[in-house]
Amino acid sequence: MAELSFTEEELQEIERIKAKFPTVKAATLRVLWVAQNKYGHVEPEVQSLVAETLDLPKSHVAGVASFYTQYYKEKKGKFVLDVCTCLSCQLCGGYDILHHLEEKLDIEAGETTDDGLFTVNEVECLGACGYAPMLQLTNDVYVNNLTKEKVDTLIENLKNGKKPEFESMAMPELEKRNQAASE
Ligand code: FES
Repeated sequence: MAELSFTEEELQEIERIKAKFPTVKAATLRVLWVAQNKYGHVEPEVQSLVAETLDLPKSHVAGVASFYTQYYKEKKGKFVLDVCTCLSCQLCGGYDILHHLEEKLDIEAGETTDDGLFTVNEVECLGACGYAPMLQLTNDVYVNNLTKEKVDTLIENLKNGKKPEFESMAMPELEKRNQAASE
C-alpha cells in the first residue's frame, strides 16, 4: 500500500474532533471513523496512520479497531450488506434473504464479489427487530421489512449508484443529528 496520509482538511477535522474530548485517547473512535470513510477500511496500515496522527500507541488503536465490528479490519466491497439472522429476523425469513443474496451475488456470507462492489455478512441483532427481516448497508442506512423482490431492487439500485433512503435511524445518522444539535 502506498504511504498513507490525511489531507490538510482531514487533519483540521481531526483537530476539531480532538477538541471535543477531554483526552486524545477518547477521540480514537471518531478518528478511526474518519480514516475508514477515507480508505474504506482500517487495515493495520490505516491503524498506524491514526496512531501516528494522534500520537498514541499502535496497540491502543488496534485494540479499539478490533473491538468493534463496524470497523473493517480488511478490505470490503463498496457496499457492505449486513444481513441480520438473529431471532426476530430469522423467524421472519432472515436466512431466506441471506441465501437469496448469496445466490444472486454468487458469493457466500463473509465474501466480496469479484468486481469489488458487494460484501455480504451475516450479523447479530441490529436493534431493528420490529422491522424484521432487515439489513444494514455499510454501517449506515437500515433496509427494513425485506423481501426477495426488495433485495433485488436494492442491488440493482446500488449498481446504478442509487442508495436507499433512511427507513429508520442508524448510528452515523444519529451522530450527524447529535452533532447538528450541539452546534
Ligand atoms: Fe434482526 Fe433484531 S433480530 S434486528
